Amino acid sequence: MDLIGRIASPVGRKMLMGLTGLGFCGFLVVHLAGNFSLFQGEAAFAAYTHKLHSLGALLKLAEFFLLLMAALHIITAVVLTLENRAARPVPYEVSARHGGRTLASSSMIWTGLLTLGFLALHLIGFKFVPPSGESRFPVVVETFSNALYVGAYLAGILAVAFHVSHGFWSAFQSLGVGNDKGTPFLMRCATWLAVVVGAGFASIPILFFLKVAG
Ligand code: HEM
Repeated sequence: MDLIGRIASPVGRKMLMGLTGLGFCGFLVVHLAGNFSLFQGEAAFAAYTHKLHSLGALLKLAEFFLLLMAALHIITAVVLTLENRAARPVPYEVSARHGGRTLASSSMIWTGLLTLGFLALHLIGFKFVPPSGESRFPVVVETFSNALYVGAYLAGILAVAFHVSHGFWSAFQSLGVGNDKGTPFLMRCATWLAVVVGAGFASIPILFFLKVAG
């Protein structure tokens, strides 16, 4: 089989979904760390974004990879979900403790679609608006002074956290990594990652809304 044939095979598609998902988990951690500079005030956030944008072509390349990863992840996820449903309209009855269905695992397609909706709202509001002044700090302050936006952000972040809580360890399974000892460890890592990413991102709209930050 040639390379394209291998990637398009059922195993190849699962691996592609796992790899692109892990790539996104890496992005989330870096993005969260960068966003924490918001808590240090406008000058610190402007300095961080200037540094980021001074990467120039490298940043454009990273953005292109992010877009490519998102497209591949979404396409493979939708194809796999439709294939699974066609093959087995009634899901297996397997207990969560045995790596079977949990609320997070059975709602992956929905938390994924919610994350996509959240991303559209987020990029329109934060990425595709011109910075006002030195950075987008005033945009963040204004957005998070609106209770509706704060609510939408918290719902989106909850969906992201749920998605990560299953997706992170499931990605390793798709890549053939994990055994009796390794998989429970990866499951614990997934839970911790979801809690850190969820609580970390949620703290920003909450603290800005309460005017504790900004
Ligand atoms: C409340 C928390 C968040 C804040 C305050 C925030 C803030 C920002 C800002 C200011 C930008 C524009 C950066 C720039 O180019 O100057 C941005 C871009 C972006 N954000 Fe967020 N973000 C948050 C949560 C998230 C989450 C949870 C995700 C993923 C699900 C995400 C995904 C992205 C992506 C993909 C970009 C575009 C990256 C790029 O093209 O350089 N963000 N965010």
